[in-house]
Amino acid sequence: MTTSNATADKNAQQPGVALTINGLAVNATEGMTLVEAAWHGGVPRVTGVGCLEGVCGSCRVMLRRGKEVTVGLACQTFVEDGIDVIFLPPASAPQHHYELGDFKDSWDIHARFHKIFPEAARCRHCHGCDNSCPKGITAENGVALAVAGRFREAGEAFFECIMCELCDIACPELIAPAHVGLFSRRITAHFHLRPPNLIHRLEELRQEHQETSRNEDSEE
Ligand code: SF4
Ligand code: SF4
Ligand code: FES
Repeated sequence: MTTSNATADKNAQQPGVALTINGLAVNATEGMTLVEAAWHGGVPRVTGVGCLEGVCGSCRVMLRRGKEVTVGLACQTFVEDGIDVIFLPPASAPQHHYELGDFKDSWDIHARFHKIFPEAARCRHCHGCDNSCPKGITAENGVALAVAGRFREAGEAFFECIMCELCDIACPELIAPAHVGLFSRRITAHFHLRPPNLIHRLEELRQEHQETSRNEDSEE
């Protein structure tokens, strides 16, 4: 028996699940993810499917169960009877602009953060970002830490972030919690000494390169 026949037989034995994906009725089988159901149901254009392992953050979906509307990652969500699934378009370009190279010392990070993210101080603590995060990140607290100038801790709060930006969609104040987290991680790294073993190895490579260049010059 071929693999595809075996899969078809296995699917045939599973209970059926009826749902809609991008407005199309799909008959899936229990245990399928929403991505598998979309492929199985011949949904024509499913954008934003990458890693299939909950890492790339691109398979963003809106889910409607009766009156309840939530968001999630399609490769990490299993089919349910009666659920309506809409694949969301890719995240739009970031609205908060800065150049790390412009930060010459750490004294003015806090003031500049508030210029770059003026909305962050207006967090209304609605928990929308926390509730939308498929990674269980406490984004609301991460934003509060950044607002207080505690960027290292803020960055750590977003440590598992995959930049799916579902929290950004959920934020009524347009704070862009995902980008607050990214800023916090970047700025912490920017002012942090690189690991000594990395510095040591880079220096070794630099010296090896110089040695090779010298040898080549002397052979000419
Ligand atoms: S914090 Fe935001 S961008 Fe990061 S994983 Fe959670 S929802 Fe996605
Ligand atoms: S969704 Fe926005 S306003 Fe609501 S808690 Fe999160 S950062 Fe604050
Ligand atoms: S396809 Fe990458 S997170 Fe779902």
